[in-house]
Amino acid sequence: MTVMISSIFLGFLLLTLEPSFVTIATISVAPSIDPKTEEVMNVIRLSNGYEFEYVAASGALGFDGQGWPWEQPLRVLGLFDPSLFKPVTKSLTWKPRRGNLRWHDPFRAVRFIDGGVVNAVDLTNLGFDWWLETVGRRLESGRQSLIVSIYTEDETELRQMAERLNDIDLAAVELNAHCPNHHGDFHHNAWQVVWFCELYRRLCRHPLILKVSVLHNLNLIVPKAEPYIEAIDINSVPWSYVFPHRSPLRRLGGGAVSGQPAQAVTWSILRQLVNLTDIPVIGPSVWRYQDIQALRGRGAQAISFGSIFLRYPWRPTIFVRRDQRENGR
Ligand SMILES: Cc1cc2nc3c(=O)[nH]c(=O)nc-3n(C[C@H](O)[C@H](O)[C@H](O)COP(=O)(O)O)c2cc1C
Repeated sequence: MTVMISSIFLGFLLLTLEPSFVTIATISVAPSIDPKTEEVMNVIRLSNGYEFEYVAASGALGFDGQGWPWEQPLRVLGLFDPSLFKPVTKSLTWKPRRGNLRWHDPFRAVRFIDGGVVNAVDLTNLGFDWWLETVGRRLESGRQSLIVSIYTEDETELRQMAERLNDIDLAAVELNAHCPNHHGDFHHNAWQVVWFCELYRRLCRHPLILKVSVLHNLNLIVPKAEPYIEAIDINSVPWSYVFPHRSPLRRLGGGAVSGQPAQAVTWSILRQLVNLTDIPVIGPSVWRYQDIQALRGRGAQAISFGSIFLRYPWRPTIFVRRDQRENGR
């Protein structure tokens, strides 16, 4: 019976694979080389010794990095292995935040679109204290350590979160500097982002990753934030930056686009960042296997899997195993 169910499920998976995914077996991948040191650059090493090559983006694997309940059956089939990724938690705010996600009706705030996802979740979470007590303090020290994503616009909240994170073992903290579903004052936000990076650095021992958005003035932020951050990653893109027509989530402000339709924007930000700084950049918006190498070719030093986990939860595992096999990782 189990075998039959597995076969039906596998058949379903194969039917949903895009043709390009099936026909790309011959592409060979060469790692990018740092011209100065001649070292392979496809890994990010943090100052605390943690290193990672593949990241599960915030929102992809839940609040503990182990994945959402509907992804768990794939483990049995060997198609979902969170240990291959350095997981970033879904963003935490100091206080619980209702946001737009309703667990009884997830498609209210998340929709699949052609080649990607649009979401208007708006930081739904049970708050920092809940996370610290139910997840943070139970983390096994040193094993598959998490990157914790935090979001705040308030200095006092940042202080409290940064100080309390010192108590637990983490790979890093990600400062979600701007939620694309939340419309704020972006000029003010640029200075605030730099100040928050500096303040965080003074208070917390874990390396800091800065998550930026297309709405940020990167020329202003990045050179000033450089002394405080160890990597940069890139958020999803407000609907109106990608599509001229109306969003299916217009009731919730339009939402933010990720995956293949976001690549034109997220990959151009990647390019901009690589030209602007030596801080390693994590490349987003993988949808097909060859996107991994396309990101490396654009200077990404680690690869992030985000909304692809929602649409095709098995693909990141399959892609990473294949990348490891074909490129001797
Ligand atoms: C349903 C959903 C929830 C998300 N939640 C968060 C979040 O809580 N914090 C955050 O920084 N990014 C969040 N993101 C953005 C992703 O982490 C990622 O930056 C974005 O999807 C772009 O990467 P991708 O094109 O590879 O998906 C979310 C994305 C989706 C689709």
